[in-house]
Amino acid sequence: MDATAINDSGAGRDAASISIENVGKVYPDGTVAVGDISFEVPAGELVVLIGPSGSGKSTLLRMLNRLIEPSKGTIRIDGADIAAQDPTELRRQIGYVIQNVGLFPHQTIRTNVGTVPHLLGWKKKRIRDRSDELLELVGLDPTRYGARYPHELSGGQRQRVGVARALAADPVVLLMDEPFSAVDPIVRGRLQEEFLRLQAAVRKTIVLVTHDIDEAVRLGDRIVVLGENGHLLQYAPPPELLSRPATDAVRDFVGADRGIRRLTVTPVRTAMRPIGQDADVDRFPTVDISASLYDALAEMLTADALNVAVTEKGIPVGTVSRSALFEAPKRDTVPTGS
Ligand SMILES: Nc1ncnc2c1ncn2[C@@H]1O[C@H](COP(=O)(O)OP(=O)(O)O)[C@@H](O)[C@H]1O
Ligand SMILES: [Mg+2]
Repeated sequence: MDATAINDSGAGRDAASISIENVGKVYPDGTVAVGDISFEVPAGELVVLIGPSGSGKSTLLRMLNRLIEPSKGTIRIDGADIAAQDPTELRRQIGYVIQNVGLFPHQTIRTNVGTVPHLLGWKKKRIRDRSDELLELVGLDPTRYGARYPHELSGGQRQRVGVARALAADPVVLLMDEPFSAVDPIVRGRLQEEFLRLQAAVRKTIVLVTHDIDEAVRLGDRIVVLGENGHLLQYAPPPELLSRPATDAVRDFVGADRGIRRLTVTPVRTAMRPIGQDADVDRFPTVDISASLYDALAEMLTADALNVAVTEKGIPVGTVSRSALFEAPKRDTVPTGS
């Protein structure tokens, strides 16, 4: 996908940072849905909220666009307190994608995608061009799908339309509540992959809710783990979360195979030592510098080797030994989240 596709429309705006300061929510019946939570989402990053059912993920997400008002605390977007902003205005700058999308059934796909631009009073032609551009961006041919109705699309295609609609007015923030959980695992994997490509192109600030740890480590730049009564248990990038779970509850939640998961999300360069220390490097199997430790392990197992050579544009730049794969990452080799 062309990284300039969005900005070429002239609608390009920067992503915004989000600051959540001592935010809590107690529902009128006394349920503590969100405890006392503070964390920052840097502009252009994708932060995943994960936790068991009822841990306050949706409540926290919906406070970010004021569909729910917090009982306490402050939420700032690019430094501005959202409590002081008009909720309708605020929501027009924030894309929102939910499970099963919530497309309007009696409107065409093109009209659905153009919902917010229409509310913003854009001219017809501009809305249409923008809708088609977005459909293209999420991999749906506008000439084929634009005039269809939601029931004429598959679940995965509808989910893509939901993402296109959320991006239509070029929001500074995108909120997604279990966006991929209603589709089957194979389609989900494909949507996740497409979504990563899309995010690389548009670089929105995204807060995404899931209860699936695999999805969390695959998509998240950072992960917030919520526990009972909406308490924040840990906030860390995936490799750190997997190698150093902060509490027993987090350890249980990330699962017994967290070691393997960590390998899949840790770049091979973090375990690499410089070339030159291994005489027979020419005979090592190779992985590209962009590979993960998991890829390196797979190569070693396939070739029955104790080392791999790491190459950049085909030229060896370092080596990784089997034992180095299993050393916990050093603090300075992974982003720390601060
Ligand atoms: N409108 C409401 N009134 C009272 N309790 C609610 C309401 N909405 C959610 N809850 C409760 O708040 C807690 C957190 O809910 P929710 O944010 O939906 O969790 P999650 O998305 O993590 O499953 C749950 O105990 C839920 O039952
Ligand atoms: Mg929820």
